[in-house]
Amino acid sequence: MLIRLLYVSKQIASLPSNFAEINLDRFRKSNQLNDITGVLCGGEGVFLQVLEGYRSKVNKLYTEICRDDRHTDIELLHYEEINERAFYAWSMDYIPISTLYEMIRIKVPDFDPYLSSGKLAINCVIDYLRLNDEP
Ligand SMILES: Cc1cc2nc3c(=O)[nH]c(=O)nc-3n(C[C@H](O)[C@H](O)[C@H](O)COP(=O)(O)O)c2cc1C
Repeated sequence: MLIRLLYVSKQIASLPSNFAEINLDRFRKSNQLNDITGVLCGGEGVFLQVLEGYRSKVNKLYTEICRDDRHTDIELLHYEEINERAFYAWSMDYIPISTLYEMIRIKVPDFDPYLSSGKLAINCVIDYLRLNDEP
């Protein structure tokens, strides 16, 4: 069974602002081994990450990510069973969060991941990748 989830978190102050870019290769290799796909949005002190794949694998990674002390205030925004992946081309794509916010705030000017709909955020990430789907 395939699932997709989305969470938001805040990076700890001592983490470099380019943490995501620095670690992307490692995350990609590990995700490839576990058949996990998705996208990580970072910048402005916030992470928004979509993970998709087989339920047990994604749940396991999400549990590890929740234990990771490089970020705090981790909040699950969206969790659903899916028939097919939206991010099949990417073991972990990267989008600057400012780019995502630009898209979302066209529809919802005061969008705040901690207060607004997770479904809206995930749909915007999926829309963004449909427009920029070259791996
Ligand atoms: C915002 C954030 C996103 C992460 N995303 C991934 C990921 O996509 N894949 C992954 O394997 N680890 C990811 N990690 C790292 C995990 O939390 C954890 O450190 C890692 O799975 C442990 O792997 P290791 O035991 O091989 O070091 C992420 C960490 C943070 C803070």
